[in-house]
Amino acid sequence: MEYAKKNQFILPAFNTTNLEMTIGISNGLAKAKLPGYIQVSSSNLKLSNPNMMVEITKNALKHIDIPIALHLDHGQSFQDVKDCVDAGFTSIMIDASHLSFEENITEVKKTVDYCHFYGIPVEAELGALGGKEEDINNETGSTTDPEVVKEFVERSGCDLLAVSVGNVHGLDLQPNVNLQLLKNISDVSPVPLVMHGGSGIPFDTIRKAKKFNLLKINYGADLRKVFIESFGKEYQKNQNAHDVIRLSMIAVSNVSNKANELVKVINGY
Ligand code: G3H
Ligand code: ZN
Repeated sequence: MEYAKKNQFILPAFNTTNLEMTIGISNGLAKAKLPGYIQVSSSNLKLSNPNMMVEITKNALKHIDIPIALHLDHGQSFQDVKDCVDAGFTSIMIDASHLSFEENITEVKKTVDYCHFYGIPVEAELGALGGKEEDINNETGSTTDPEVVKEFVERSGCDLLAVSVGNVHGLDLQPNVNLQLLKNISDVSPVPLVMHGGSGIPFDTIRKAKKFNLLKINYGADLRKVFIESFGKEYQKNQNAHDVIRLSMIAVSNVSNKANELVKVINGY
């Protein structure tokens, strides 16, 4: 985070689901020589446990010399937080945005107390996004209220704040980012801001949002789509397709290209 602030980068946080996506994201960032996050949703831990993700990521990053964090995305419980910190994650989100204001603060504070002991920053969310992201499905969403941002950040101790300003999860709803609301939030927020639902947000909106203390932007659906398409296209051509390693390598390369394109364009390269 300090590196990004100093060098005025926006950090993309790419959701991984497996080995192939992790390698693809690492290669894409390495090729761009730009920093970012590899992140795993709590719901993804049903398939790959935190230790597996740490080992895969460490190996994927072995020869890469730029700052890349391994982040828990939409942490659903204190147990998930603990498991990820103990396994070696370097950044954590606890998502208690569905709870009341007071309960959200309590959950975040508990996570902050644990994570800060290990020097790990914590992202929290205030307001809720519409759309669909793995286990999270919100028909409508509710925007972040700037009036309570300062109190939330100060009492919870979070290091990054994810906001709801017309951004949505997934590809089914159309994002409509309210930059004035983002500005109002940034005017009062003691910490940098995070935009979830990066897929589908126009790039010039993201570059403008940088002025309003946007430090991190999450990309899930864009990369997952590229991954799935890599297999789907081949299957459409040949329903006997079974060359998994060749297709997996194509998927790695396609995910890498997409991550590379996104990290460069949001940073104005
Ligand atoms: O936490 C993950 C992101 O918010 C992903 O959103 O799938 O719309 O890019 P997206
Ligand atoms: Zn999200």
